[in-house]
Amino acid sequence: MEQQLEDLQKQANKELAEVSDASALEAWRVLYIGRKGKLPELLRGVKDLGDEEKRVIGKAANILKRTLEEAYSVKQESFIASAPNKLMKALPAGRQVQANEASVGHLHPITLTIERVQNIFAAMGFIIADGPEVEEARYNFDALNIPSDHPARGEGDTFMIDPKSVSGEQDVVLRTQTSPMQIRSVETMRLTPPFYVIAPGRVYLREKVDATHESTFYQFEGLGIGEDITIADFKGVIAAFFSTFFQKDVTVRLRPSYFPFVEPGFEVDMSCVFCAQKGCRVCKYTGWIEVMGAGMVHPNVLKNMNIDPTKYQGFAFGGAIDRLTMIRHGINDIRMFWSGDIRFLRQFSNCHSGPRAGIHVDAGSSPA
Ligand code: PHE
Repeated sequence: MEQQLEDLQKQANKELAEVSDASALEAWRVLYIGRKGKLPELLRGVKDLGDEEKRVIGKAANILKRTLEEAYSVKQESFIASAPNKLMKALPAGRQVQANEASVGHLHPITLTIERVQNIFAAMGFIIADGPEVEEARYNFDALNIPSDHPARGEGDTFMIDPKSVSGEQDVVLRTQTSPMQIRSVETMRLTPPFYVIAPGRVYLREKVDATHESTFYQFEGLGIGEDITIADFKGVIAAFFSTFFQKDVTVRLRPSYFPFVEPGFEVDMSCVFCAQKGCRVCKYTGWIEVMGAGMVHPNVLKNMNIDPTKYQGFAFGGAIDRLTMIRHGINDIRMFWSGDIRFLRQFSNCHSGPRAGIHVDAGSSPA
């Protein structure tokens, strides 16, 4: 029996050396280590041997099995490396793929939403503005009418940057919202009314992470200032946005709310896009889904923009990119976005963000 194993090994090695393509390799696998191959056939004989022999031969046979399987993988990998464009059997479950299939990437679902949001607002005449994630506290809070004793400014909610790591005297934070982009964009672009700005970007909160909260997430800020811009204008713009985003007729409703940088302020709900407002689990049987905070820009904030509040007025809004993405695609756990799980990400390979539009402006940088 030992001799038989040795012969088998020699023969298998010799033939494997001559294998030069994937189908020959598959034939070799079936012949030697496949379920009905030569090695399993030999192994079936082991049970008829005496105890001592069973132990020795059994061990040798198992070593041979592993050696042949390893030789098979090495050969298989050499094909993958040397023939990137040939059809081959290389993936689990014998799935046939083009070797170059793996190298074709696509955009992350969050990036797709950011672009979709930008494109829709840009088509309505909004300028797209980019700004820093490491932000001066005066933009993130003070200029937005948020006093220094406001609870949101505490270390419990905000990631503080060590002042020693940045030059200058001012307090620096990871921005907790995209709202600092309101004043930043007006300043850096020297905007004078009327103007419309959209500023999507990443923000940070010291949150306990769960299925609906992340400490790192994305918002989009909107700002529209002019002589006679009213809440009715805001309602029209935002209903047009959601209708285009979801490709459905969406209506919005405003509920009174409070944000220090707007007066009046409101929460914005959109009509449920899943049940035509009949009531379903997504809208918790209310027919409405809460989607953003908004309001008419506070006179103090207009002053901080160097805009005369007796002459001009307008709206500001802030929405959550992650949430829109989750609603649009029926994703129920926000942590998926950072999971790096290729099985999750691959599902968005055919999504697109709509026709490209707009002017993109770099509106400021982090304190250095
Ligand atoms: N910045 C607010 C938030 O993060 C949203 C908001 C933006 C509210 C603009 C009003 C106006 O919740």
